[in-house]
Amino acid sequence: MTSLALFSLLCSISVLTLTDSSLSGITTAAPPTASKCNLLNSFQPGFFVQGDYVIGGIFPLHFNLKKPDLNGTYRPPPIDCNGHRLYPRAFRWAQTMRLAVEEINQNPVLLPNHTLGYNIYDSCGYPLTGQRAVLSMLNGVSEENSSVCTNASSLLAVIGAAGSAQSIVLSRILQPFRIPMISYASSCTCLSDRQKYPTFFRVIPSDYYQVKAIARMLVHFNWTWVGLLRGDNDYGLFAAKGLLKELQETKVCVAYQEMIPLPYTHQGGLRIMKVMRSSTAKVVVVFANEGEMTTFLRDYITQNITGIQWVGSDAFISVSAFSEREYYPYLGGTIGFGIKKGHISRLGDFLQTVNPNRYPDNVLVHELWESLYGCSPFPSSVTQMPPCSGQETLLEHNSAYMNTSSPRITYNVYKAVYAIAHSLHNLLLCQPGRGPFQNKSCAKSNNIHPWQEVNFQIAGEEVDFDAKGDSVPYYDIVNWQRGSEGNTEFIDVGLFDGTKAVGEELLIQEDRIMWAGHQSEIEMEVPVSVCSASCLPGFRKAVRRGEPICCFDCVPCDSGKISNQTNSVDCTICPEDFWSNNDRTACISKKVEYLTFDSLGIALTVMSVVGACFTLAVCGVFFCHRHTAIVRVNNSELSFFILFALTLCFLCCLLFIGKPTYWSCMLRHTAFSITFSLCISCILGKTLVVLAAFTATRPGHNIMKWLGPNQQRTIISSCTMVQVVICAAWLIDVPPFPSRNTQYERSKIILECSVGSSLAFWCVLGYIGLQACLCFVLAFLARKLPGNFNEAKFITFSMLIFCAVWLAFIPAYISSPGNYADAVESFAILASSFGLLFCLFASKSYIILLKPEKNTKQHLMGKEKK
Ligand code: TRP
Repeated sequence: MTSLALFSLLCSISVLTLTDSSLSGITTAAPPTASKCNLLNSFQPGFFVQGDYVIGGIFPLHFNLKKPDLNGTYRPPPIDCNGHRLYPRAFRWAQTMRLAVEEINQNPVLLPNHTLGYNIYDSCGYPLTGQRAVLSMLNGVSEENSSVCTNASSLLAVIGAAGSAQSIVLSRILQPFRIPMISYASSCTCLSDRQKYPTFFRVIPSDYYQVKAIARMLVHFNWTWVGLLRGDNDYGLFAAKGLLKELQETKVCVAYQEMIPLPYTHQGGLRIMKVMRSSTAKVVVVFANEGEMTTFLRDYITQNITGIQWVGSDAFISVSAFSEREYYPYLGGTIGFGIKKGHISRLGDFLQTVNPNRYPDNVLVHELWESLYGCSPFPSSVTQMPPCSGQETLLEHNSAYMNTSSPRITYNVYKAVYAIAHSLHNLLLCQPGRGPFQNKSCAKSNNIHPWQEVNFQIAGEEVDFDAKGDSVPYYDIVNWQRGSEGNTEFIDVGLFDGTKAVGEELLIQEDRIMWAGHQSEIEMEVPVSVCSASCLPGFRKAVRRGEPICCFDCVPCDSGKISNQTNSVDCTICPEDFWSNNDRTACISKKVEYLTFDSLGIALTVMSVVGACFTLAVCGVFFCHRHTAIVRVNNSELSFFILFALTLCFLCCLLFIGKPTYWSCMLRHTAFSITFSLCISCILGKTLVVLAAFTATRPGHNIMKWLGPNQQRTIISSCTMVQVVICAAWLIDVPPFPSRNTQYERSKIILECSVGSSLAFWCVLGYIGLQACLCFVLAFLARKLPGNFNEAKFITFSMLIFCAVWLAFIPAYISSPGNYADAVESFAILASSFGLLFCLFASKSYIILLKPEKNTKQHLMGKEKK
């Protein structure tokens, strides 16, 4: 819970001996004499009031833009800090401290019987000046009230400093004296190190949380390509480091990281602006204080850079000076994290009491008037300003000083004073046995325990510190929107509560945000700041070599792979039986293909039906003219057999069309091979008969009696039987089966009949081929035999065609995929069937139908002419 080391050391401070010249920073000083103490240098506080206990206050009342003289061989000249414009905002912080002390002194409950004093110094926003201020506080202003001389310092604690860089230095100086320091603005993560800064406390959350919040916001708005701008100090350094670390776990990349030079140079500024202009990162995160940003922005405006969406840290987001009209086109739409604000009811009235007439000797008040009204209440030769009365009313000015609309740092100063008062109160009222230390003891001068718990309420708000001396991480999300007069108004559009569960810390009312736009127009759309536009579904990211991961190319997924989300890193392979659609965004089931009644299928069907019809027609013709010579001489029975077989051949082509099934696959090859076998067997038989008939005419060779009709039938059936046996064996052993071919074309499933056993398939074809060859050879031998109608010629010719067709079939079949192989086979069947039909029967049909006069035995025997 709450532990704040505001301590026991109250009682121990009495041992400050600051005559040591190394501590006072004066190296040329002669060693002081032991008896007499004298201050070698002294600096006047801005505001000073005596009290039982004195609280120091360090505020950047000026921005010291010049580096101080670091030469240590002579007494340092007064640092040229007052030569610069007063920082009215910090002046308000200082007044708030005064108010808080006054309130506490008037409070009868808090620290009764004790008074608090204050001692407010200017740090000029620079560590070295701050160091001088702290040493002056420790030493006192003059010998009379110096702790060095009286041996008792009333310095209770120090409130400050603003910048982390100053706090680091100052808390190290105060550490040996166990004087606690409570900062109202130093947020550097580095200050949470209890080993290095045991006496440092703060009422502002550590940047540890702020960088988390900024990272969360960048992710929230999908700003994956951002620039980083920081001041050249510990605050900028640690915040940038912290943010980079935080972003490592996100998809956000930092396009560039730039540091505003200290002291600021025009060239340095221009170089940064060149980087900003050339980068595609439109969002720039800033970790810089008002002083650094003011000089930078002066150049930025002259460079007329627009379209940058600023994301500001605590130090930048609530700078009321940037609400001026001139800044609006460049800074409008800025969003960032402001520390918690609070209400101080008496602040407005109190601030108004400050005027030159009331503090005629206070240089700072004069300067305030100069900076607010551009006039000097007590004109001198140094300031060439017109005189003014000093009666000017502060309310009229919505100035950086009087702007109490949403006090953030101001409220922190107030809280810090109260934190000190409450802990002192607790210590002073401590009863032994109920104390905060070991064994419930109270603080003792000789027993220093630096820890004490403190928690209290201000205006209903609980003020707590965690174990690191930090306060609770809470930020408002502030958005810079256009005000009624063209100026900027700081509007709260959300919050970050670090105490909430991970993922729930950020609360943004997006509809209330106004974004930075182009050409000074305010945009309603969230700005885009990416290195590469996101990859659509169907594409995947491909990183570019040597570039951050936020910069990538989008490459389309390969076929068969898909990505269904934007910015996919990988394409996923579609499951089996699925394939990518054209856009590669979804897997769709693969197209199943087989030879069906499409154009090809229909053509095949028509041809086979036509072929079968033709064959039947020829059959009819032969039947009608079965008594004519030409039919009879050519062994009519065999002719009818051939015609029957041919019809079957034509028809078995139909088996190849349609979805392959278990049965159709088995039938296909077997039906075709058996019918063809039958057909060729018949032709073979016929050839044998022709051969025998002519040879038989020679005396002594009566082969014809061995080739009677019965023998012919036997030959035909036995030849066919061989094929039937092969087919039976095939079907029984490894029958053809329907299969899905996914290899040939990966995007399709081809339904085909696998032959089961290739050996059997080629055996079947080979057998047909063998028959055909045999037939061819025999017919070839018989072709020269006499007779006007020697069929052998036609058979030779038909076998030639048959063989040619099937020889051509083999390579075509092997190289065609699934359904096309079926088509090829069907075509081969049709072509060879047509070939046979034509060769064997065309001339005969012609004679029968158109030349009946030639249809005589004489003519056929070739005896007519003689
Ligand atoms: N957070 C800053 C730091 O740690 C200091 C800071 C915050 C500040 N807001 C400021 C300084 C306003 C000056 C003005 O350094």
